[in-house]
Formats: sequence, C-alpha cells, structure tokens
Amino acid sequence: MAEHVKIEHDEVIRGWFSTAGLGRLKGFVTTTTSFIFFFFLVVIAALVWMDIPIIRGSPFSFASPSSKIYPEKIHHVSIERIRFPLNCSSFVNYVTNFEPEESTVETCPDYFRWIHQDLRPWKASGITKDMIERGIPSADFRLVIVNGNVYVERYRRSFQTRDLFTIWGILQLLKLYPGKVPDLELLFYCGDNTVIMKRDYHGPSAASPPPVFHYCGEKAALDIIFPDWSFWGWAEVNIKPWEETLRAIRKGAERIEWEKREPYAYWKGAPTSADRGDLLKCNVSDQHDWHVRVYEQDWGKEIQERFEHSNLEDQCTHRYKIYAEGRTWSVSEKYIMACDSMTLMIQPEYYDFFSRSLVPAKHFWPIGRKNKCRHLKFAVEWGNNHTRQAQAIGKAGSQFMEQMLTMRNVYDYMFHLLNEYSKLLKFKPTIPPNAQRVCAETTEQGLAKEFMLQSMVKSPSDKLPCALPPGFEPRAIRASVDGKQDNTRQLETWEAQYWKKLHDTKQ
Ligand SMILES: *[C@@H]1O[C@H](CO)[C@@H](O)[C@H](O)[C@H]1NC(C)=O
Ligand SMILES: *[C@@H]1O[C@H](CO)[C@@H](O)[C@H](O)[C@H]1NC(C)=O
Ligand SMILES: *[C@@H]1O[C@H](CO)[C@@H](O)[C@H](O)[C@H]1NC(C)=O
Repeated sequence: MAEHVKIEHDEVIRGWFSTAGLGRLKGFVTTTTSFIFFFFLVVIAALVWMDIPIIRGSPFSFASPSSKIYPEKIHHVSIERIRFPLNCSSFVNYVTNFEPEESTVETCPDYFRWIHQDLRPWKASGITKDMIERGIPSADFRLVIVNGNVYVERYRRSFQTRDLFTIWGILQLLKLYPGKVPDLELLFYCGDNTVIMKRDYHGPSAASPPPVFHYCGEKAALDIIFPDWSFWGWAEVNIKPWEETLRAIRKGAERIEWEKREPYAYWKGAPTSADRGDLLKCNVSDQHDWHVRVYEQDWGKEIQERFEHSNLEDQCTHRYKIYAEGRTWSVSEKYIMACDSMTLMIQPEYYDFFSRSLVPAKHFWPIGRKNKCRHLKFAVEWGNNHTRQAQAIGKAGSQFMEQMLTMRNVYDYMFHLLNEYSKLLKFKPTIPPNAQRVCAETTEQGLAKEFMLQSMVKSPSDKLPCALPPGFEPRAIRASVDGKQDNTRQLETWEAQYWKKLHDTKQ
C-alpha cells in the first residue's frame, strides 16, 4: 500500500535513533565493517535530519503502523526524498518533479479500463470550454489545476464534508505524483443522484453532454465516475480513511472464523430507499424465518454516542452480509465486502468506479430485487449446505477489496482518469477569476482534521503509476455482461429447482 511506501524512508531515518531500532540492530552491528557502515549511516541520518526543510513545518509526528527497519533500503536514503509539511505556505511548488526509483511498471487492475468507457462521449469531439460552462448548473464546484496548484470555484454547499474530502484527495494525488498531474479544469457534483442523463443528449440535433465528475453512474447517465470522499474519511459518521478502516475490518474478520459465524444474512443501516424498506420486511418474525437478521441504524442515538456502537470492524459476525443500495450507490459496499463473509448483493442499479468489475458467483451472490426474502433464504441455505464454496466467494470479495482497492490504486485511478480527461480538453486551463487557491493547509477541526492527517500523503511516490490498460472492445463488454448474466442465470436455475421441489413435497 502507498502508505508503507511513503513512510519507509522516514522510518529508516527515525529507526536509527529509536531504542527499538537499535535493539533490532544489535545483531547487525557485530563486525567492524558493519560498525563503520553503521557509523556512516548515522552521519547521513544526522545530515538529513539537520537539513531542516525536511522536517521543519511538520508539527505532527507520523507514527507508522509498523516500525520496521529496512537496512537493505538504506542506500536509497536521499536528501531529495522530502516529507511534506502540513503547512502549505511553505509548500509552494516545493517539488515540481519527482524521479521514481523503481522503473518497473505494473499494469493497473481491470476496473481501470472503464476510464476509457466513461470518457467515450467526448472522445470524438473533445471537451470545449462551452461544454464545461453548460455543466455548471449540475455542479457543486469547479476545480482547476494549473502548474500543480489547485483552484476551486464553489457554486453551492455540498452535503456534509463530501466536497472538502474530495478536494483533499486530489491535493494528496498532486503530492504523490508531483509534476505529473496535467493542467485541467473540471466540474464536480457531490450528491447522490446522477446528473447528466443520456436522454437529454440524444438525437442528431442534441447538444453534446457536459462533462461532470461524480461518485457514481448508471446505465441512463453520463456522469464521469470518480472515487468518493470516504476513501479519505467520513467524519460525520466516524468512518476513518479507507486504509485504517480496512485494517480494522480485517482484524475484526479474524476474530471469528467463518464457520463459527451466525449462519444468517446480516444487514445494518438506514432504510433510505424502497429497496431497503423492502429488506426490513425479511427480518425474522413469528411467522417467517428467511434467515435474515436486519438492524435499523438509529441515527439520533448513534450521533449522540459518536457511532461508537456501529464500528464496521465489529460487524463481521455473520456468514452472509447483505448489500442494499441507498438512494443510489452506497459507500458501504467496500466495508461489507471486506469481512470475508459471502456478500449477498441486491441487484444494484448504480455503480462506482470499481464495482463494474465485480463478478457474480465469484465475488458475491446476486439477489434479485423482486421477492428478496425468498432469494435471500435460498442463498443462505445454499451457503450453509456448501460452506466451502460460500467461503470462497466471501474470500474472493474480500481479496478484491484488499488487493485491488489499495489506496495506491485509488490514486492511480484518479491519476489516469484525470490524465485521460485532460487530453480531451480543447483549451488551455487558466485560473478562473472567482476561484480560490486551495492547499493542504487544513483549517478543519476535530474528526475531519484527524482524518485528513491520517490520510495525508507524506512524501512523493517512489514509483510511477501503474500502466493503464486499453479500453474494452464493445465485443468484450458484451461478453463480460453475458458472462455475468450466465453466472446469475445458473444460480437462478438452482433456486427455481429448490423452490419447485419444496412446493412439490408440500403437496
Ligand atoms: C504556516 O507557516 C507560516 C510561515 O511559516 C506561518 O506563519 C503560519 O502560521 C503557518 N500556518 C499553520 C496553519 O501552521
Ligand atoms: C429484526 O429482528 C431482530 C431479532 O428479533 C431484532 O432484534 C431487530 O430489531 C429486528 N430489526 C428490525 C429492523 O426490526
Ligand atoms: C440444503 O440441504 C438440505 C438437507 O440436505 C436440503 O433439504 C435443502 O434442499 C438444501 N438446500 C439448498 C439450498 O441446497
């Protein structure tokens, strides 16, 4: 994960001064040669330390999760490898370029291919200033990057701190890849609903759609999908940045083995959609046991208790976990899938940037929207009869979240999306007169500040972004959709047989 990569060098420097580090080094410093080597390193470390700009301005101590020392990496300690201060006044174009040490480049995960698909509406025409202007009524803010600086023009307040954390995420991207993010201008919408509808830009005389960045998409919409704010934290409901949360959920998942978990389907949340209201009806009652256990989130009470009783890491207690969309997509998907429990996914209508690459029967079990209770009952019973397969699906879903959805990949996705987008611009981005320059100097207080410090990129990357794979051929998209439908149909056939048998035996 990016976090480790970033703090490594700092750890190296700090490690030499810490007693724990010295303890671990005892075995190492045995011969004269290594002693000289050690002395040499201390001198380097001291030099680095004395070179004030490296540390000055950062009043915060960034304790690393593991205080490992990497003696083999010592050679890479370089004065260039700076650590960013929080204070942006001293970070004006601090680094304009970076030289990655590793030249090998991995290919990005499959879901990056959707970047090409999302930008397809503008592929032939390019993006003009006029197209962007026409999108303003749908946008919360305009964001412009010129020479590595970020300027924001705000049109209206977004819900909670969504805009703040989204802009924060983009600032961190600029720090991870200094000098690599091109100049650009974009519009962003932070709400739930999709805003650029295909039907409004249909037909020969229709205007071209305005490009608007947003967190989710659907078949009927042309919103450009960007990672949502929760990757940097959701202060209002006390959900920490994704790396911290994932680590906690993984720990929580280890507490109870799959076999020992409750053999039911679990869901907890607020019934903000018809689908979720419907789901509440499947709860166990005197009349029915659909093998479903649902709990309503009491927001008032939770806010009072600072959400201390709804820790995501304490919710890996059941073998099956239900995903149900809220008003549109839900950020809960990644938390639900990280548990190792098999995810029962109520057929979503919306998708975020990674969910289009999730495969039914491989990463999750699809649940039809109609007759949910019956579908859920069958899925749970099937899983309890086929524990090995159910566990494997749970595991595959979690591995996707852990391996494909690293923060490094989230940043790389943003990088490539912005990079491809900027290539389409037909004009040179300039600083808008009403825009304000923003920087990493956070004026937030409380939890929001804490999350920003946690999710802050502390030094430039030491490798290049992954390599963007090409877009899908239309044929490949169809094949992928067909494959998913085949999987789903297979499960439906099993289910139909099950209910038929049950019905037949009853008569
Ligand atoms: C940032 O640095 C400047 C100059 O070093 C200082 O005057 C200012 O108070 C600092 N701001 C914060 C938030 O630390
Ligand atoms: C579902 O049933 C369980 C067990 O009876 C109960 O504790 C829970 O409150 C019920 N959930 C809802 C939303 O009514
Ligand atoms: C699970 O096993 C029981 C007992 O063998 C069987 O009656 C039931 O139909 C099975 N259910 C599913 C969904 O496989």
